[in-house]
Amino acid sequence: MMEKYFAKISGTGMYVPEKILTNTDLEKIVDTSDEWIRTRTGMSERHIASKDQAATDLAYEATLKAIESARIKHRDIDMIICATISGDHPFPSTACILQKKLGLRDFPAFDVSAGCTGWIYAANIAKQYIENGIAENVLVIGVEILSKITNYDDRNTCVLFGDGAGATIISRAEPKDISRLIDSDLSADGTYYDLLIQDAGGSRKPATKETVQENLHTVYMEGNKIFKLAIKSMYNTCQKVLKRNHMDTKSIDWLITHQANLRIIDALGKKLKIDEEKVFINIEKYGNTSSATVPMALDEAIRENRIRHGDLVLLASFGAGLTSGSLLFRM
Ligand code: ACO
Repeated sequence: MMEKYFAKISGTGMYVPEKILTNTDLEKIVDTSDEWIRTRTGMSERHIASKDQAATDLAYEATLKAIESARIKHRDIDMIICATISGDHPFPSTACILQKKLGLRDFPAFDVSAGCTGWIYAANIAKQYIENGIAENVLVIGVEILSKITNYDDRNTCVLFGDGAGATIISRAEPKDISRLIDSDLSADGTYYDLLIQDAGGSRKPATKETVQENLHTVYMEGNKIFKLAIKSMYNTCQKVLKRNHMDTKSIDWLITHQANLRIIDALGKKLKIDEEKVFINIEKYGNTSSATVPMALDEAIRENRIRHGDLVLLASFGAGLTSGSLLFRM
């Protein structure tokens, strides 16, 4: 019989670009107000990459911190999975470019496209590779430079997005280790694929002068419809994973969800009947960094000593696709 291994989160790191875009700055760009943005989204500021920064530049910095916190060497990494919708290039993958930057080669490196659920999809895949014994230290990253695909004439979307990277090392756990990834659920409902979309630049609508003029290379979103689906899909995926493991939210020490809108997080917390103080939120500082929100929040919660060794943590996200997913683990 094949030996069964377990996976755990052994290190985390995050990085955001220096430049900060505040709500007051946005008041000068579109018809909006600090009050509207704060009350409707919970956001105060977000970090924006410079002209010459690309996704792997942020991912590299976050990775160095994750490697340090996992107390491993670069060469111990044997797989890279990068969740992104705003990589350095449409191809090759961002993971391969990051592999080169880290001075590594000769192991699998690939990207996952699942919108804001990307990091949870990537962590789920890493879990399988650790549990089947093929990999020992998987670098799992969520990185986005959404500012470069945002239409700063559209007040419905431009106030929401920020740039950042969250990196995690998912490693093989020692048999006596209490830290481990317990379970993860993934889902998608493609019937809603066009509610959140970068319309042009792929094989359906290749880049032309017209697609650029019509702003079809930027994010299009029907926020209202997504709002309701977000709460429902995150609730379902959380319940599924809790039920499967004979738990309820009373057993959970921390809930970290995708940071897309404070009202979505609050509504989900209420629906799951979880105490407010168990929900970690950092949306006010970073806005929506898509696949990076969950690993960035996880890193902050660990570094601030909120999440401690032995805590039971539930992560959940939703995003373009529409995708959704959750991950239950013991730190
Ligand atoms: N400033 C001022 N007013 C605004 C702004 C703004 N920035 N944006 C929209 N409004 C106006 C609208 O024009 C509308 O005005 P009207 O009533 O005169 O037509 C009014 O505010 C209400 O608009 P709604 O869209 O109903 O506002 P809502 O309360 O739903 O908030 C928001 C909009 C914040 C986008 C919300 O729907 C949301 O967060 N949705 C989910 C977004 C999300 O989670 N996306 C998925 C992840 S992103 C990713 O995967 C990359």
